Amino acid sequence: PPAPPNAMIIFGAAGDLTKRKLIPALFHLCHGNLLPETFAVVGLDRMEMDDATFQSMMGEEVKRNVGNAWDAETWSRLCERLHYMTGNITEEATYIALCERLSGIDAERGTDGNYLFYLAVPPSLFGDITRLLGAVGLTAESENDWRRVIIEKPFGIDLDSAKALNRMLHETLDEDQIYRIDHYLGKETVQNIMVFRFSNGFIEPLWNRQHIDHVQITVAESVGVEHRGPYYDTAGALRDMIPNHLLVLLGFLGMEPPNSFDSQAVRDEINKVLDAVHPLTPEQVLTNAVRGQYGEGVMPNGEKVPAYRSSPGVDPNSRTETFAALKLTMDNWRWAGVPFYLRTGKRLTAQYTEVVIQFKRAPKIMFKDADTAQMNPDMLVLRIQPNEGIQMSFGAKIPGPRMRVGTVNMDFCYADYFGNAPATGYETLIYDCMNGDATLFKHADTVEKGWEIVESVQDVWAAMPPRDFPNYAAGTWGPAAAGDLLKNDGRLWRRIT
Ligand code: BG6
Repeated sequence: PPAPPNAMIIFGAAGDLTKRKLIPALFHLCHGNLLPETFAVVGLDRMEMDDATFQSMMGEEVKRNVGNAWDAETWSRLCERLHYMTGNITEEATYIALCERLSGIDAERGTDGNYLFYLAVPPSLFGDITRLLGAVGLTAESENDWRRVIIEKPFGIDLDSAKALNRMLHETLDEDQIYRIDHYLGKETVQNIMVFRFSNGFIEPLWNRQHIDHVQITVAESVGVEHRGPYYDTAGALRDMIPNHLLVLLGFLGMEPPNSFDSQAVRDEINKVLDAVHPLTPEQVLTNAVRGQYGEGVMPNGEKVPAYRSSPGVDPNSRTETFAALKLTMDNWRWAGVPFYLRTGKRLTAQYTEVVIQFKRAPKIMFKDADTAQMNPDMLVLRIQPNEGIQMSFGAKIPGPRMRVGTVNMDFCYADYFGNAPATGYETLIYDCMNGDATLFKHADTVEKGWEIVESVQDVWAAMPPRDFPNYAAGTWGPAAAGDLLKNDGRLWRRIT
């Protein structure tokens, strides 16, 4: 059903996220008839333009971004609901004007005083915006309307700053008005981890330390830092990806079955998993965490690419890591002794996100012709992106008179069953927020627990600046130490070919 009447106010409407993700996501929602008739967007930014200019600018961007899904009829329905307001978002006058504009829109469009504020702005502005929204009364809910705020990442730069940001937001907003977004939670294949585990009876009995040897989570990117040098050079791979996206995957993989798909029940289980992650001691950081920075290199397509340090906006002597890998364990009955290896990096050989569940080997192989050293362990691979799907690798008899065993794959591809539904990944999240469903958003605690897990790594890395950067060539699998992280345990990263 369509979402309830509401106005979505986008702070940072002239920015990248608005044109690349938010308006295309609204387009897809509109196409699926999931936006109400009584809906309006108010884009807010410093740039001077009128409604018509904003509409035509967004039209071009949407056309470019939605590819084959473009249809003029859907666009005209959405387009006439787009408004724009010029304003400095750090000045109270802007918010007074916004109040007036919104009252007019409520009267004209029937948006009923329900407002979704989307903060598509740098994190340094989160505090000012919410304070000023509060000051003019825009965050106060009545019995008949709601006010919600979507906050983009990065949510702080460490545990202390995340706590401070939470405190600041809580000065104006109740926790249930705050929707902290992590776009990994918007991915169908990430949500499917829960569906795969909890809608099938045969998975859960195997999903534990008795049967699973270890888990690998890889978010590999072949792209470099592109135009985001100034941000990335202060963040680095660990902060940029691990406390948020990789821990989302770890949470869904590790959680106990929630009692219901209620947002509180799901979030409680995720928080329990994060609580169970064993914090690394400073000594363990030295052996269980690996960092790297790429130097120049050649990508598999033959493209020669410059070193990270030569990227625009990056310090030429930068010690920021562009690769991070961690070995984590959990202190609970399900996972005791099962390592979770996490890795992410820029300018790696390939662009993909996947989870590998490697099962324990059979206790004994009685086929005397089987070359046990050559036999691969059974593996379940959850392909998050691209080629979304699930693959099970296991041993099968190689035809012939001898009892030889080879590895074969059973493969499920989303596209074969469900086609390629166009999506930006923001559709579900925006729609859920309009409906007041926070299941796929992060609670204050979840964000803080994420930072707690990486805190000791941040501390040790800050205290011991790397001496060997750059330590991997662009177009490779990252620093050698990342391979050793598994090799030392008698294991290997799965390589895609
Ligand atoms: C963002 C990071 O949050 O996620 C980027 O800031 C990264 O550095 C991106 O490239 C990865 O997202 P996706 O959806 O392409 O895996």
